[in-house]
Amino acid sequence: MSSNPEQLPAIAAGSGVPRHVAVVMDGNGRWAQARFLPRPAGHRAGVDAVRRIVEACGRRGVKVLTLFAFSSENWTRPEEEVSVLMDLMLRTLEKEASRLHENNVRVRMIGDRSRFSHRLQRQIAAAEELTADNTGLTLVIAVSYGGRWDLAQAARRIAEAVQDGSLDPEQVNESLVEGMLNTADLPPTDLLIRTGGESRISNFLLWQLAYAELYFTPVLWPDFREAHLDEAFDWYAGRERRFGRTSEQLGRVSRA
Ligand code: FPP
Repeated sequence: MSSNPEQLPAIAAGSGVPRHVAVVMDGNGRWAQARFLPRPAGHRAGVDAVRRIVEACGRRGVKVLTLFAFSSENWTRPEEEVSVLMDLMLRTLEKEASRLHENNVRVRMIGDRSRFSHRLQRQIAAAEELTADNTGLTLVIAVSYGGRWDLAQAARRIAEAVQDGSLDPEQVNESLVEGMLNTADLPPTDLLIRTGGESRISNFLLWQLAYAELYFTPVLWPDFREAHLDEAFDWYAGRERRFGRTSEQLGRVSRA
């Protein structure tokens, strides 16, 4: 890598608030089981936590919040649970789209939407269209999403461009690949929060998390409150993000 600081990734500005936060919302099932409730009750409580955290991120000036709502692998869950989750997604979008719009939130979905019902596909498109020009928080909902799927679809598009002669293999570099991902127009992920006690990425934003700070908490997603978000942000603010550089270089870059 070049030693010219001009060519190195930008260091997030000093407020300590991450620009792009991604969340693996884990623990809904266990939250429900601990209360002798069926798993869907946990997912419904998870939607309340989504509402709280979207509002809190907006208030704190986060630019992008990406939520892992349904992974490529979640299709293998029992049919009934998949259908509950799809229905919850549809009803939440129907119910919340106008409120999100009033609050200047821009909604985006990433993932393989070809597997959704037509009704859900239409609802997603409508929410995206309604909020497209909003300038506040960008809420990215990852549904039927997998990091490997994202990289594979980027590779397929690059191969097609090479095949039809519009791209020379020599032109394939990191920024070209990045531009082919579902997250192409979003800033890099600064902070990943995973609730529910596991310390895994679980095929979320594989490329995009390259330099993210990873924060794991045992709190189950339905229990996750604004105060927990602040704990994560405080922890993040104390991290030294070097992007491969030394601490001494960072001192020079921030003084430049
Ligand atoms: C993981 O918990 C959670 C999910 C697979 C679903 C999360 C989805 C929501 C909260 C709905 C979001 C809706 C919108 C519109 C953003 P788990 O079931 O794996 O929990 P467990 O590990 O305790 O079993």
